[in-house]
Amino acid sequence: MQAKVLKANISENIKIAANLILRGKLVAFPTETVYGLGADATNSEAVSRIFTVKERPAFDPLIVHVASMEMLCMVAKGIPDIAWTLIDAFWPGPLTLVLSKKDEIPDIVTAGLPTIAVRMPRNKVALALIKESGVPIAAPSANSFSRPSPTSVNHVIDDLGSKIDLILDDGPAQIGIESTVLDLTCSPPSILRPGGVSRESLERILRKVSVSLGNEDNVFRAPGQMKQHYAPRAKMMLFVGKRRKKVIISMRERIKELGKMGKVGKIGVMVPEEYLTYFNNENVVAVGLGSLTSTEAAAKKLFETMRALDKIGVNYILALAPSKKGIGLAIFDRLFKAAGSQLIEVD
Ligand code: TXA
Ligand code: MG
Repeated sequence: MQAKVLKANISENIKIAANLILRGKLVAFPTETVYGLGADATNSEAVSRIFTVKERPAFDPLIVHVASMEMLCMVAKGIPDIAWTLIDAFWPGPLTLVLSKKDEIPDIVTAGLPTIAVRMPRNKVALALIKESGVPIAAPSANSFSRPSPTSVNHVIDDLGSKIDLILDDGPAQIGIESTVLDLTCSPPSILRPGGVSRESLERILRKVSVSLGNEDNVFRAPGQMKQHYAPRAKMMLFVGKRRKKVIISMRERIKELGKMGKVGKIGVMVPEEYLTYFNNENVVAVGLGSLTSTEAAAKKLFETMRALDKIGVNYILALAPSKKGIGLAIFDRLFKAAGSQLIEVD
């Protein structure tokens, strides 16, 4: 059966969604980052359905969404002072804090870990849904495992439409890239996944913060750190270099080479709008990903573009790596993982 889609700006619909959550059903709902697939975090059967419909491995823990400080205290214990400072600065918003888990929260939510990832989303609908249901809501991104995260209802329908109970439609997600996951159970605090809150803005508050994105030793602390993740179906090639124009030339050369191989079909390109004119070949579908001056715009379009190029059926996507400043670090991280953790360096 296809999931029902209801407009999120009608309070009656929030009540319907909250009732479903309380009955152990799955509801996809908007957040300011990406759409989430929600279940009552205190109901282990409901949470186990999240793993089934997403085909998500059981070792990959979920983020729990709260709407008040009381709810935070229902799920986490021993909350350190620094957490409260960060909460003052960034909640509601795209910052997920990893804290010590309370025993009352079923182990399946955190994949058996003694820690729990918590955030208070900034989206009004998300907050209303959590408040109306009165329970913390466990929600990963509402995509099939390893597909790009969903930034609009159509993406949720494409991946999960026949497997879930309801989708609340609030239009396109405002930020378009997931929250920053910050581990506060270690010293110094560690960014496990860069996201909507930048490293620089965390550094303004934390004296020291480490960034642990790789899995050099093959031990990943957060499953978002797996080498291949957020992947489009096409083969992604990520080009990086100090001199952007030189990188563009190298991308154009690669397109020619691919063309010579024959039968490559269409080739996708993702570059800042200013560079689109360099990619007007017949076999190329070039999409402007933000502009040189707005990485926020690139973040908003990133996953949507990967999905759109997949729909067109391109076999390759060539992307220009953004600067790692601000939300650029999160964009870089997602592109890098989509490219199977490989870079094409141009010097
Ligand atoms: O913006 C977001 O964070 C979205 C919206 C829906 O809130 N959610 C999201 O959830 O991206 P998900 O499940 O796709 O990603 C959750 C990330 C994963 O990388 C997971 O490993 C990490 O958070 N995580 C969850 N619990 C953790 C824990 N206890 N320790 C370390 N990492 C954890
Ligand atoms: Mg996800």
